[in-house]
Amino acid sequence: MKKLVVFGGTGRTGLAVLTRASQDPELQVTAYLRKPEKVPVNVRSKIKIVLGNVLDADQVANVIEGQDAVISCLGKGFNICPTTLISEGVKNIVQGMREHGVKRIVLVGVAFLLPGRKTMFILKEITADHERALNYLKKCKDIDWIMSMPPQIIDAPYTDTYKVAINKLCGSKKATTHDIAHWMLTCVKDEEVAKEYKHQLVGISSFLSFKQGLTRLKIGYYGLFAFALVGTLWYSGWLKNIFP
Ligand SMILES: NC(=O)c1ccc[n+]([C@@H]2O[C@H](COP(=O)([O-])OP(=O)(O)OC[C@H]3O[C@@H](n4cnc5c(N)ncnc54)[C@H](OP(=O)(O)O)[C@@H]3O)[C@@H](O)[C@H]2O)c1
Repeated sequence: MKKLVVFGGTGRTGLAVLTRASQDPELQVTAYLRKPEKVPVNVRSKIKIVLGNVLDADQVANVIEGQDAVISCLGKGFNICPTTLISEGVKNIVQGMREHGVKRIVLVGVAFLLPGRKTMFILKEITADHERALNYLKKCKDIDWIMSMPPQIIDAPYTDTYKVAINKLCGSKKATTHDIAHWMLTCVKDEEVAKEYKHQLVGISSFLSFKQGLTRLKIGYYGLFAFALVGTLWYSGWLKNIFP
């Protein structure tokens, strides 16, 4: 039985990690988070929740005490403003790991930081913060870190056919939340995998089945249709009469 603490467990990827980890008999899970109401009740009942902010170094160190491994899925949602959350959060986590002799951490990064890839202009601030965290980790030779580097993350189930590769993406430019979670938990549980991917950037790509792809396409078409309808009604003045 491994003791695992998860940061960012209320985010898209983090919730997939908590959901999967809570069903795993090999894991005893603690989630360090700010908004417990975001965790479904069936998951909440199977894990320990500690409330706190990742920017509080002392509380972060306390929750890491006695753990075997850490997962970090920290992020800023769709906020594209300058931030230091991830880099400062990772520093606090590593400091806590050193204080309590915990060595293994698996994190979510961004595929933009894989060799030879460039960030999108609109995402340059969040990428810069991931890069600060990565540059810091590269100096932490005493910590066994693995950074998972997804391209676009999509809220979708485990596919069983996802691929990982060191320093590159091998295939699609999408990764499902549950594939990323599965990979991160494998890095926590499997000693051979942990050894092979230690101190590496690992690209991850999911391959959606035809049916899954079609469902996503349909959602996209419905969204486009709704957008076009609202735009037309607004332009024709009909909506302006109702919401002047
Ligand atoms: N979106 C994409 O397509 C994409 C692609 C590649 C990589 N990424 C990266 O992947 C990572 C995970 O993305 P995601 O979309 O799964 O994450 P997300 O939905 O943005 O969730 C971020 C998590 O971080 C937590 N958090 C933020 N500030 C915190 C603080 N001060 N203290 C404690 N927890 C805090 C949030 O908690 P609260 O619920 O309390 O806010 C939430 O649980 C991000 O770093 C993102 O940059 C995203």
